[in-house]
Amino acid sequence: MILYLLALVSSFILFWIYKIISDEDQGFTYLLLCPKTRTVDGTKLSDAVRISKPGTIFRNTFDFVNFNAEKLFNYSRGFANEYKCSYLLHFLVATSYNVIRAEDLEDVMKEPDLITKGVYYHFLEDFLGSGLLTSAGNKWHNRRKLLTPSFHFTILERFIDIFRSESGKFVKDLVPLAGEQLVLQEVIPKTTLNIICESALGIKLSEVDSADFYRKTIKKIEHLEMERSGNFLMYFDFIYNWFGTKTELVKECSKAHTFTSEIINKRREGFQGGDGGVGRKKRFALLDNLLIHEKEGLIDGQGVCEEVDTLTFEGFDTTSTGVMFTIFMLGQHQDIQQLAFEEVKSVVNENMTVSNYSNLQYLERVIKESLRLYPPVPYVSREVVKESKVGNLILGPKSDISIHIFDIHRDPKYYPDPERFDPDRFLPINTENRHPFAYIPFSAGLRNCIGQKFAMLELKSIVAAVLKNYKILPVTKREDLRFEAGLILRPSIDLVIKLEKRAD
Ligand code: HEM
Repeated sequence: MILYLLALVSSFILFWIYKIISDEDQGFTYLLLCPKTRTVDGTKLSDAVRISKPGTIFRNTFDFVNFNAEKLFNYSRGFANEYKCSYLLHFLVATSYNVIRAEDLEDVMKEPDLITKGVYYHFLEDFLGSGLLTSAGNKWHNRRKLLTPSFHFTILERFIDIFRSESGKFVKDLVPLAGEQLVLQEVIPKTTLNIICESALGIKLSEVDSADFYRKTIKKIEHLEMERSGNFLMYFDFIYNWFGTKTELVKECSKAHTFTSEIINKRREGFQGGDGGVGRKKRFALLDNLLIHEKEGLIDGQGVCEEVDTLTFEGFDTTSTGVMFTIFMLGQHQDIQQLAFEEVKSVVNENMTVSNYSNLQYLERVIKESLRLYPPVPYVSREVVKESKVGNLILGPKSDISIHIFDIHRDPKYYPDPERFDPDRFLPINTENRHPFAYIPFSAGLRNCIGQKFAMLELKSIVAAVLKNYKILPVTKREDLRFEAGLILRPSIDLVIKLEKRAD
Protein backbone atom coordinates (compact mmCIF):
# COMPACT_ATOMS: atom_id res chain seq x y z
CA MET A 1 0.00 0.00 0.00
CA ILE A 2 2.80 2.43 1.03
CA LEU A 3 4.70 1.57 -2.12
CA TYR A 4 1.57 2.19 -4.15
CA LEU A 5 1.12 5.61 -2.52
CA LEU A 6 4.79 6.49 -3.03
CA ALA A 7 4.52 5.59 -6.70
CA LEU A 8 1.42 7.73 -7.02
CA VAL A 9 3.05 10.75 -5.34
CA SER A 10 6.27 10.34 -7.37
CA SER A 11 4.38 10.12 -10.63
CA PHE A 12 2.42 13.22 -9.68
CA ILE A 13 5.67 15.12 -8.95
CA LEU A 14 7.24 13.84 -12.17
CA PHE A 15 4.18 14.89 -14.13
CA TRP A 16 4.30 18.35 -12.51
CA ILE A 17 8.00 18.76 -13.35
CA TYR A 18 7.28 17.54 -16.87
CA LYS A 19 4.52 20.13 -17.21
CA ILE A 20 6.81 22.91 -15.99
CA ILE A 21 9.56 21.96 -18.36
CA SER A 22 7.42 21.22 -21.38
CA ASP A 23 5.10 24.20 -21.11
CA GLU A 24 7.09 26.97 -22.71
CA ASP A 25 4.21 29.37 -22.31
CA GLN A 26 3.33 29.29 -18.65
CA GLY A 27 6.55 27.51 -17.66
CA PHE A 28 7.56 28.39 -14.15
CA THR A 29 4.38 30.36 -13.56
CA TYR A 30 3.04 27.14 -12.03
CA LEU A 31 5.12 28.13 -9.03
CA LEU A 32 3.33 31.46 -8.83
CA LEU A 33 0.01 32.29 -7.24
CA CYS A 34 -1.23 34.66 -9.94
CA PRO A 35 -4.13 33.77 -12.23
CA LYS A 36 -2.85 32.47 -15.55
CA THR A 37 -3.13 34.58 -18.68
CA ARG A 38 -4.75 32.86 -21.69
CA THR A 39 -5.43 33.69 -25.31
CA VAL A 40 -8.90 34.19 -26.78
CA ASP A 41 -8.31 32.04 -29.86
CA GLY A 42 -6.37 29.30 -28.07
CA THR A 43 -2.97 30.10 -29.66
CA LYS A 44 0.09 29.63 -27.50
CA LEU A 45 0.52 32.57 -25.14
CA SER A 46 4.12 33.10 -26.23
CA ASP A 47 2.94 33.38 -29.85
CA ALA A 48 0.39 36.02 -28.89
CA VAL A 49 2.52 38.22 -26.64
CA ARG A 50 6.15 38.66 -25.66
CA ILE A 51 6.82 37.07 -22.26
CA SER A 52 9.71 38.66 -20.40
CA LYS A 53 12.85 36.79 -19.45
CA PRO A 54 12.49 35.24 -15.99
CA GLY A 55 14.89 36.56 -13.33
CA THR A 56 14.52 33.40 -11.21
CA ILE A 57 12.19 30.38 -11.19
CA PHE A 58 9.75 32.80 -9.58
CA ARG A 59 9.83 34.72 -12.82
CA ASN A 60 10.10 38.51 -12.29
CA THR A 61 9.14 38.47 -8.60
CA PHE A 62 12.59 39.35 -7.31
CA ASP A 63 13.74 41.50 -10.24
CA PHE A 64 13.43 44.71 -8.21
CA VAL A 65 15.35 43.63 -5.13
CA ASN A 66 18.06 46.21 -4.41
CA PHE A 67 16.69 48.54 -7.07
CA ASN A 68 16.73 52.27 -6.48
CA ALA A 69 14.23 54.56 -8.20
CA GLU A 70 16.58 55.19 -11.13
CA LYS A 71 17.16 51.50 -11.76
CA LEU A 72 13.42 50.91 -11.58
CA PHE A 73 12.85 53.53 -14.27
CA ASN A 74 15.53 51.99 -16.49
CA TYR A 75 14.16 48.47 -15.91
CA SER A 76 11.05 49.24 -18.01
CA ARG A 77 13.10 51.15 -20.61
CA GLY A 78 15.35 48.10 -20.95
CA PHE A 79 12.43 45.82 -21.88
CA ALA A 80 10.99 48.41 -24.26
CA ASN A 81 14.33 48.79 -26.07
CA GLU A 82 14.95 45.07 -26.24
CA TYR A 83 11.47 43.76 -27.09
CA LYS A 84 10.07 46.71 -29.06
CA CYS A 85 6.56 45.37 -28.38
CA SER A 86 4.17 45.11 -25.42
CA TYR A 87 5.13 42.35 -22.97
CA LEU A 88 4.09 40.33 -19.92
CA LEU A 89 5.89 40.26 -16.57
CA HIS A 90 5.00 37.61 -14.01
CA PHE A 91 5.12 38.34 -10.30
CA LEU A 92 4.26 36.08 -7.38
CA VAL A 93 0.66 37.22 -7.06
CA ALA A 94 -0.05 39.15 -10.26
CA THR A 95 0.72 39.28 -13.93
CA SER A 96 1.55 42.65 -15.43
CA TYR A 97 0.72 43.42 -19.05
CA ASN A 98 3.05 46.24 -20.14
CA VAL A 99 1.71 48.28 -23.01
CA ILE A 100 4.24 50.17 -25.13
CA ARG A 101 2.39 50.33 -28.47
CA ALA A 102 -0.59 52.49 -29.49
CA GLU A 103 -2.38 49.55 -31.15
CA ASP A 104 -2.26 47.52 -27.93
CA LEU A 105 -3.46 50.51 -25.92
CA GLU A 106 -6.48 50.72 -28.21
CA ASP A 107 -7.41 47.17 -27.13
CA VAL A 108 -7.19 48.23 -23.46
CA MET A 109 -9.21 51.40 -24.02
CA LYS A 110 -11.97 49.44 -25.81
CA GLU A 111 -12.82 47.68 -22.55
CA PRO A 112 -15.13 49.90 -20.47
CA ASP A 113 -14.53 47.72 -17.38
CA LEU A 114 -10.84 48.59 -17.24
CA ILE A 115 -11.11 51.86 -15.35
CA THR A 116 -9.92 50.82 -11.88
CA LYS A 117 -6.56 52.40 -11.07
CA GLY A 118 -3.49 50.27 -10.34
CA VAL A 119 -1.47 49.92 -7.16
CA TYR A 120 0.40 53.26 -7.33
CA TYR A 121 -2.82 55.19 -6.82
CA HIS A 122 -3.52 53.31 -3.64
CA PHE A 123 -0.47 55.08 -2.15
CA LEU A 124 -2.22 58.41 -2.63
CA GLU A 125 -5.29 57.52 -0.61
CA ASP A 126 -3.96 58.90 2.70
CA PHE A 127 -3.81 62.29 1.05
CA LEU A 128 -6.55 62.26 -1.57
CA GLY A 129 -9.07 59.86 -0.04
CA SER A 130 -11.05 58.41 -2.92
CA GLY A 131 -11.45 61.44 -5.14
CA LEU A 132 -11.67 61.67 -8.91
CA LEU A 133 -8.13 60.41 -9.49
CA THR A 134 -8.23 57.38 -7.22
CA SER A 135 -11.88 56.28 -7.10
CA ALA A 136 -13.61 53.77 -9.36
CA GLY A 137 -17.12 52.53 -10.25
CA ASN A 138 -20.21 54.64 -9.61
CA LYS A 139 -18.42 57.05 -7.31
CA TRP A 140 -15.96 57.96 -10.06
CA HIS A 141 -18.74 58.25 -12.69
CA ASN A 142 -20.74 60.64 -10.48
CA ARG A 143 -17.75 62.78 -9.57
CA ARG A 144 -16.56 62.99 -13.17
CA LYS A 145 -20.05 64.15 -14.24
CA LEU A 146 -20.05 66.72 -11.45
CA LEU A 147 -16.59 68.16 -12.21
CA THR A 148 -16.52 68.08 -16.03
CA PRO A 149 -18.45 71.37 -16.53
CA SER A 150 -15.87 73.17 -14.30
CA PHE A 151 -13.27 72.59 -17.03
CA HIS A 152 -15.42 73.66 -19.94
CA PHE A 153 -13.69 75.87 -22.52
CA THR A 154 -15.81 78.90 -21.56
CA ILE A 155 -14.90 78.57 -17.86
CA LEU A 156 -11.17 78.64 -18.73
CA GLU A 157 -11.50 82.32 -19.60
CA ARG A 158 -11.99 82.97 -15.87
CA PHE A 159 -8.55 81.56 -15.09
CA ILE A 160 -6.63 83.64 -17.61
CA ASP A 161 -6.18 86.51 -15.15
CA ILE A 162 -4.61 84.13 -12.63
CA PHE A 163 -2.26 82.67 -15.26
CA ARG A 164 -1.28 86.14 -16.43
CA SER A 165 -0.63 87.66 -13.03
CA GLU A 166 1.33 84.64 -11.71
CA SER A 167 3.41 84.37 -14.90
CA GLY A 168 4.11 88.12 -14.67
CA LYS A 169 5.19 87.76 -11.05
CA PHE A 170 7.38 84.80 -11.97
CA VAL A 171 9.32 86.63 -14.70
CA LYS A 172 9.72 89.65 -12.38
CA ASP A 173 11.15 87.45 -9.61
CA LEU A 174 13.68 86.12 -12.12
CA VAL A 175 15.15 89.57 -12.84
CA PRO A 176 17.87 89.46 -10.14
CA LEU A 177 18.71 85.91 -11.19
CA ALA A 178 19.43 86.74 -14.85
CA GLY A 179 22.90 85.60 -15.86
CA GLU A 180 23.11 83.13 -12.97
CA GLN A 181 22.72 79.37 -13.10
CA LEU A 182 19.10 78.47 -12.32
CA VAL A 183 17.88 75.05 -11.22
CA LEU A 184 14.47 74.68 -12.86
CA GLN A 185 13.21 72.29 -10.17
CA GLU A 186 13.79 75.06 -7.62
CA VAL A 187 12.17 77.99 -9.41
CA ILE A 188 9.14 76.61 -11.29
CA PRO A 189 6.98 74.76 -8.70
CA LYS A 190 6.18 77.86 -6.62
CA THR A 191 4.36 79.45 -9.58
CA THR A 192 2.37 76.36 -10.59
CA LEU A 193 1.31 75.74 -6.99
CA ASN A 194 0.20 79.38 -6.68
CA ILE A 195 -1.83 79.01 -9.89
CA ILE A 196 -3.59 75.81 -8.95
CA CYS A 197 -4.33 77.02 -5.39
CA GLU A 198 -5.88 80.22 -6.64
CA SER A 199 -7.83 78.39 -9.37
CA ALA A 200 -9.04 75.57 -7.15
CA LEU A 201 -9.41 77.29 -3.78
CA GLY A 202 -9.80 80.93 -4.74
CA ILE A 203 -6.92 82.11 -2.53
CA LYS A 204 -3.68 83.83 -3.36
CA LEU A 205 -0.97 81.88 -1.56
CA SER A 206 1.15 85.02 -1.58
CA GLU A 207 -1.45 86.67 0.68
CA VAL A 208 -1.79 83.79 3.13
CA ASP A 209 0.53 83.62 6.14
CA SER A 210 0.75 79.84 6.20
CA ALA A 211 1.35 79.54 2.43
CA ASP A 212 5.00 78.61 2.73
CA PHE A 213 4.13 75.99 5.27
CA TYR A 214 1.48 74.55 2.89
CA ARG A 215 3.92 74.59 -0.05
CA LYS A 216 6.47 72.71 2.03
CA THR A 217 3.86 70.21 3.23
CA ILE A 218 2.68 69.44 -0.31
CA LYS A 219 6.28 68.98 -1.44
CA LYS A 220 6.98 66.72 1.53
CA ILE A 221 3.92 64.55 0.76
CA GLU A 222 4.99 64.38 -2.85
CA HIS A 223 8.49 63.36 -1.82
CA LEU A 224 7.21 60.63 0.51
CA GLU A 225 4.91 59.26 -2.23
CA MET A 226 7.80 59.24 -4.70
CA GLU A 227 10.09 57.51 -2.26
CA ARG A 228 7.50 54.79 -1.74
CA SER A 229 6.75 54.29 -5.41
CA GLY A 230 10.47 53.86 -6.11
CA ASN A 231 10.89 51.03 -3.60
CA PHE A 232 9.14 47.80 -4.55
CA LEU A 233 9.17 46.38 -0.99
CA MET A 234 7.16 49.38 0.19
CA TYR A 235 4.30 48.39 -2.14
CA PHE A 236 3.12 46.01 0.58
CA ASP A 237 1.06 48.00 3.09
CA PHE A 238 2.24 46.04 6.12
CA ILE A 239 5.91 46.60 5.24
CA TYR A 240 5.30 50.29 4.51
CA ASN A 241 3.27 50.81 7.69
CA TRP A 242 5.89 49.16 9.88
CA PHE A 243 9.16 49.97 8.20
CA GLY A 244 8.33 52.83 5.85
CA THR A 245 7.34 56.42 6.32
CA LYS A 246 3.63 55.91 7.01
CA THR A 247 3.62 57.88 10.30
CA GLU A 248 5.38 60.81 8.68
CA LEU A 249 3.00 60.70 5.70
CA VAL A 250 -0.12 60.69 7.89
CA LYS A 251 1.26 63.67 9.85
CA GLU A 252 1.97 65.68 6.69
CA CYS A 253 -1.42 64.80 5.15
CA SER A 254 -3.16 65.96 8.28
CA LYS A 255 -1.34 69.34 8.09
CA ALA A 256 -2.37 69.78 4.43
CA HIS A 257 -5.96 68.77 5.18
CA THR A 258 -6.18 71.31 8.00
CA PHE A 259 -5.01 74.07 5.65
CA THR A 260 -7.48 73.24 2.87
CA SER A 261 -10.38 72.58 5.27
CA GLU A 262 -9.98 76.04 6.80
CA ILE A 263 -10.14 77.66 3.38
CA ILE A 264 -13.10 75.53 2.30
CA ASN A 265 -14.95 76.43 5.51
CA LYS A 266 -14.35 80.16 5.02
CA ARG A 267 -15.54 79.99 1.43
CA ARG A 268 -18.56 77.96 2.52
CA GLU A 269 -19.44 80.61 5.12
CA GLY A 270 -19.27 83.24 2.37
CA PHE A 271 -21.64 81.10 0.35
CA GLN A 272 -24.10 80.67 3.16
CA GLY A 273 -23.94 84.41 3.77
CA GLY A 274 -25.35 84.83 0.26
CA ASP A 275 -22.04 85.79 -1.33
CA GLY A 276 -22.38 82.89 -3.78
CA GLY A 277 -18.61 82.55 -3.63
CA VAL A 278 -18.21 84.64 -6.74
CA GLY A 279 -18.78 88.05 -5.29
CA ARG A 280 -17.54 91.07 -7.17
CA LYS A 281 -14.20 91.05 -5.42
CA LYS A 282 -13.77 87.31 -5.30
CA ARG A 283 -12.43 85.37 -8.24
CA PHE A 284 -14.22 82.26 -9.43
CA ALA A 285 -12.67 79.07 -8.05
CA LEU A 286 -13.25 75.42 -8.88
CA LEU A 287 -14.27 75.09 -5.24
CA ASP A 288 -17.30 77.31 -5.89
CA ASN A 289 -18.84 74.74 -8.21
CA LEU A 290 -18.27 72.04 -5.62
CA LEU A 291 -19.96 74.15 -2.94
CA ILE A 292 -22.96 74.67 -5.23
CA HIS A 293 -23.17 70.90 -5.66
CA GLU A 294 -22.83 70.45 -1.91
CA LYS A 295 -25.81 72.76 -1.40
CA GLU A 296 -27.75 70.68 -3.93
CA GLY A 297 -26.88 67.52 -1.97
CA LEU A 298 -24.82 66.03 -4.83
CA ILE A 299 -21.58 65.82 -2.83
CA ASP A 300 -20.83 65.90 0.90
CA GLY A 301 -18.25 67.95 2.86
CA GLN A 302 -15.69 65.15 2.79
CA GLY A 303 -16.15 64.82 -0.98
CA VAL A 304 -15.49 68.55 -1.42
CA CYS A 305 -12.21 68.19 0.50
CA GLU A 306 -11.19 65.08 -1.51
CA GLU A 307 -11.74 66.84 -4.81
CA VAL A 308 -9.99 70.04 -3.79
CA ASP A 309 -6.95 68.03 -2.62
CA THR A 310 -7.05 65.97 -5.83
CA LEU A 311 -7.11 69.04 -8.07
CA THR A 312 -4.31 70.70 -6.14
CA PHE A 313 -2.15 67.60 -6.24
CA GLU A 314 -2.83 66.71 -9.90
CA GLY A 315 -2.61 70.28 -11.11
CA PHE A 316 0.64 71.19 -9.39
CA ASP A 317 3.52 68.85 -10.12
CA THR A 318 2.31 67.78 -13.56
CA THR A 319 2.30 71.34 -14.84
CA SER A 320 5.66 72.24 -13.19
CA THR A 321 7.21 69.23 -14.92
CA GLY A 322 5.66 70.25 -18.26
CA VAL A 323 6.96 73.83 -17.91
CA MET A 324 10.40 72.65 -16.76
CA PHE A 325 11.01 70.37 -19.72
CA THR A 326 9.65 72.84 -22.27
CA ILE A 327 12.01 75.56 -20.99
CA PHE A 328 14.85 73.06 -20.80
CA MET A 329 14.33 71.91 -24.40
CA LEU A 330 14.03 75.50 -25.66
CA GLY A 331 17.43 76.12 -24.07
CA GLN A 332 18.86 73.12 -25.91
CA HIS A 333 17.50 74.26 -29.31
CA GLN A 334 18.27 77.92 -29.94
CA ASP A 335 16.84 77.86 -33.49
CA ILE A 336 13.49 76.55 -32.24
CA GLN A 337 13.56 79.04 -29.35
CA GLN A 338 14.06 81.92 -31.82
CA LEU A 339 10.98 80.88 -33.84
CA ALA A 340 8.90 80.54 -30.68
CA PHE A 341 10.13 83.93 -29.42
CA GLU A 342 9.20 85.68 -32.68
CA GLU A 343 5.70 84.23 -32.51
CA VAL A 344 5.30 85.22 -28.85
CA LYS A 345 6.51 88.74 -29.63
CA SER A 346 3.88 89.19 -32.32
CA VAL A 347 0.95 87.54 -30.50
CA VAL A 348 1.25 88.15 -26.76
CA ASN A 349 -0.23 91.34 -25.35
CA GLU A 350 -1.55 92.61 -22.01
CA ASN A 351 -5.11 91.40 -22.60
CA MET A 352 -4.74 87.84 -23.79
CA THR A 353 -7.93 85.77 -24.13
CA VAL A 354 -8.24 82.01 -24.54
CA SER A 355 -8.56 82.45 -28.30
CA ASN A 356 -5.48 84.72 -28.43
CA TYR A 357 -3.52 81.90 -26.82
CA SER A 358 -4.72 79.55 -29.55
CA ASN A 359 -2.82 81.78 -32.00
CA LEU A 360 0.43 80.65 -30.40
CA GLN A 361 0.52 77.67 -32.75
CA TYR A 362 4.27 77.17 -32.95
CA LEU A 363 4.62 77.39 -29.16
CA GLU A 364 1.82 74.84 -28.86
CA ARG A 365 3.80 72.46 -31.06
CA VAL A 366 6.93 73.06 -28.96
CA ILE A 367 4.99 72.22 -25.79
CA LYS A 368 3.43 69.14 -27.39
CA GLU A 369 6.83 67.88 -28.51
CA SER A 370 8.23 68.44 -24.99
CA LEU A 371 5.29 66.52 -23.50
CA ARG A 372 5.96 63.75 -26.02
CA LEU A 373 9.60 63.29 -25.06
CA TYR A 374 9.11 64.07 -21.39
CA PRO A 375 5.51 63.23 -20.45
CA PRO A 376 4.99 64.55 -16.89
CA VAL A 377 2.97 61.39 -16.13
CA PRO A 378 5.23 58.78 -17.74
CA TYR A 379 3.16 55.79 -16.78
CA VAL A 380 -0.43 54.99 -15.78
CA SER A 381 -1.82 51.68 -14.62
CA ARG A 382 -5.07 49.80 -14.31
CA GLU A 383 -6.08 46.90 -12.13
CA VAL A 384 -8.09 44.11 -13.78
CA VAL A 385 -11.01 43.59 -11.41
CA LYS A 386 -12.73 40.73 -13.21
CA GLU A 387 -11.40 38.47 -15.98
CA SER A 388 -11.05 40.73 -19.02
CA LYS A 389 -10.33 40.36 -22.70
CA VAL A 390 -7.64 42.67 -24.05
CA GLY A 391 -7.04 42.05 -27.75
CA ASN A 392 -6.25 38.34 -28.00
CA LEU A 393 -5.38 38.06 -24.30
CA ILE A 394 -7.56 37.09 -21.38
CA LEU A 395 -6.18 38.65 -18.19
CA GLY A 396 -7.19 37.23 -14.83
CA PRO A 397 -8.48 39.28 -11.87
CA LYS A 398 -5.78 41.23 -9.99
CA SER A 399 -3.64 41.44 -13.15
CA ASP A 400 -2.05 44.82 -13.69
CA ILE A 401 -2.00 46.75 -16.95
CA SER A 402 0.94 49.17 -17.07
CA ILE A 403 0.67 51.77 -19.80
CA HIS A 404 4.13 53.20 -20.47
CA ILE A 405 3.38 56.61 -21.98
CA PHE A 406 7.14 57.31 -22.07
CA ASP A 407 7.71 54.34 -24.44
CA ILE A 408 4.51 54.76 -26.48
CA HIS A 409 5.75 58.28 -27.31
CA ARG A 410 9.01 56.84 -28.68
CA ASP A 411 7.52 54.36 -31.16
CA PRO A 412 9.61 54.87 -34.33
CA LYS A 413 6.58 53.84 -36.40
CA TYR A 414 4.92 57.14 -35.50
CA TYR A 415 7.99 59.17 -34.54
CA PRO A 416 10.94 58.44 -36.85
CA ASP A 417 14.22 59.14 -35.03
CA PRO A 418 12.18 59.37 -31.81
CA GLU A 419 14.73 61.18 -29.64
CA ARG A 420 14.96 64.10 -32.07
CA PHE A 421 13.16 67.22 -30.76
CA ASP A 422 11.02 68.37 -33.65
CA PRO A 423 7.89 70.46 -32.97
CA ASP A 424 6.82 70.03 -36.61
CA ARG A 425 5.82 66.47 -35.81
CA PHE A 426 2.65 68.19 -34.62
CA LEU A 427 1.88 70.04 -37.85
CA PRO A 428 -1.62 68.96 -39.00
CA ILE A 429 -0.14 67.28 -42.06
CA ASN A 430 2.02 65.08 -39.81
CA THR A 431 -0.68 64.19 -37.31
CA GLU A 432 -3.62 63.36 -39.56
CA ASN A 433 -2.64 59.73 -40.09
CA ARG A 434 -1.12 59.16 -36.67
CA HIS A 435 -2.77 56.57 -34.45
CA PRO A 436 -4.99 58.42 -31.90
CA PHE A 437 -3.29 56.60 -29.01
CA ALA A 438 0.28 57.31 -30.20
CA TYR A 439 0.25 60.63 -28.34
CA ILE A 440 -1.27 60.45 -24.87
CA PRO A 441 0.41 62.83 -22.38
CA PHE A 442 -3.01 63.32 -20.80
CA SER A 443 -3.86 59.59 -21.05
CA ALA A 444 -6.84 58.55 -23.16
CA GLY A 445 -10.30 57.03 -22.92
CA LEU A 446 -12.73 57.53 -20.07
CA ARG A 447 -10.08 58.33 -17.46
CA ASN A 448 -8.18 60.93 -19.39
CA CYS A 449 -7.03 64.12 -17.72
CA ILE A 450 -9.94 66.38 -16.84
CA GLY A 451 -7.59 69.39 -16.60
CA GLN A 452 -5.82 69.08 -19.97
CA LYS A 453 -7.12 72.30 -21.56
CA PHE A 454 -6.42 74.17 -18.33
CA ALA A 455 -2.90 72.69 -18.28
CA MET A 456 -2.08 73.57 -21.90
CA LEU A 457 -3.22 77.14 -21.34
CA GLU A 458 -1.20 77.43 -18.15
CA LEU A 459 1.92 76.02 -19.83
CA LYS A 460 1.55 78.43 -22.74
CA SER A 461 1.06 81.37 -20.43
CA ILE A 462 4.17 80.67 -18.30
CA VAL A 463 6.49 79.67 -21.16
CA ALA A 464 5.35 82.63 -23.30
CA ALA A 465 6.08 85.04 -20.43
CA VAL A 466 9.58 83.59 -19.97
CA LEU A 467 10.30 83.67 -23.72
CA LYS A 468 9.10 87.24 -24.09
CA ASN A 469 11.43 88.48 -21.35
CA TYR A 470 14.45 86.21 -21.48
CA LYS A 471 16.68 84.25 -23.77
CA ILE A 472 17.09 80.73 -22.36
CA LEU A 473 20.65 79.38 -22.42
CA PRO A 474 21.56 75.74 -21.81
CA VAL A 475 23.77 74.54 -18.97
CA THR A 476 22.77 70.92 -18.26
CA LYS A 477 23.29 68.73 -21.33
CA ARG A 478 20.36 66.70 -22.60
CA GLU A 479 22.50 63.56 -22.90
CA ASP A 480 23.14 63.72 -19.13
CA LEU A 481 19.43 63.38 -18.29
CA ARG A 482 18.51 60.45 -16.05
CA PHE A 483 15.16 59.69 -14.45
CA GLU A 484 13.64 58.09 -11.39
CA ALA A 485 10.54 55.88 -11.39
CA GLY A 486 7.44 57.43 -9.85
CA LEU A 487 4.03 58.86 -10.60
CA ILE A 488 5.62 62.00 -12.08
CA LEU A 489 8.60 62.07 -14.43
CA ARG A 490 11.41 63.12 -12.13
CA PRO A 491 14.93 63.81 -13.39
CA SER A 492 17.55 62.53 -10.97
CA ILE A 493 19.82 65.46 -11.83
CA ASP A 494 19.27 69.21 -11.63
CA LEU A 495 17.97 70.82 -14.83
CA VAL A 496 20.16 73.92 -14.99
CA ILE A 497 19.73 76.83 -17.40
CA LYS A 498 20.78 80.50 -17.58
CA LEU A 499 18.53 83.39 -18.51
CA GLU A 500 19.62 86.46 -20.42
CA LYS A 501 17.31 89.48 -20.16
CA ARG A 502 15.92 90.55 -23.54
CA ALA A 503 15.87 94.23 -24.44
CA ASP A 504 12.42 95.78 -23.71
C1 HEM B 1 0.84 69.02 -18.05
C2 HEM B 1 -0.03 68.84 -17.10
C3 HEM B 1 -0.82 67.58 -16.86
C4 HEM B 1 -0.58 66.32 -17.29
C5 HEM B 1 0.56 65.82 -18.18
C6 HEM B 1 -1.63 65.48 -16.77
C7 HEM B 1 -1.75 64.12 -17.03
C8 HEM B 1 -2.76 63.32 -16.55
C9 HEM B 1 -2.89 61.93 -16.83
C10 HEM B 1 -1.92 61.10 -17.69
C11 HEM B 1 -4.00 61.49 -16.19
C12 HEM B 1 -4.54 60.08 -16.21
C13 HEM B 1 -4.11 59.32 -15.02
C14 HEM B 1 -4.49 57.88 -15.17
O1 HEM B 1 -5.01 57.46 -16.19
O2 HEM B 1 -4.25 57.16 -14.26
C15 HEM B 1 -4.59 62.61 -15.50
C16 HEM B 1 -5.73 62.56 -14.75
C17 HEM B 1 -6.24 63.62 -14.04
N1 HEM B 1 -5.79 64.92 -14.08
FE1 HEM B 1 -4.21 65.61 -15.14
N2 HEM B 1 -2.48 66.25 -16.02
C18 HEM B 1 -2.03 67.54 -16.06
C19 HEM B 1 -2.62 68.64 -15.45
C20 HEM B 1 -3.77 68.59 -14.70
C21 HEM B 1 -4.40 69.75 -14.11
C22 HEM B 1 -3.91 71.19 -14.26
C23 HEM B 1 -5.48 69.29 -13.39
C24 HEM B 1 -6.48 70.06 -12.60
C25 HEM B 1 -6.64 71.33 -12.58
C26 HEM B 1 -5.52 67.83 -13.56
C27 HEM B 1 -6.46 67.02 -12.98
C28 HEM B 1 -6.56 65.67 -13.23
C29 HEM B 1 -7.57 64.82 -12.61
C30 HEM B 1 -8.60 65.24 -11.59
C31 HEM B 1 -7.37 63.53 -13.13
C32 HEM B 1 -8.19 62.29 -12.84
C33 HEM B 1 -9.27 62.17 -13.90
C34 HEM B 1 -10.12 60.93 -13.77
O3 HEM B 1 -9.62 59.87 -13.36
O4 HEM B 1 -11.30 61.03 -14.12
N3 HEM B 1 -4.47 67.46 -14.37
N4 HEM B 1 -3.82 63.73 -15.74
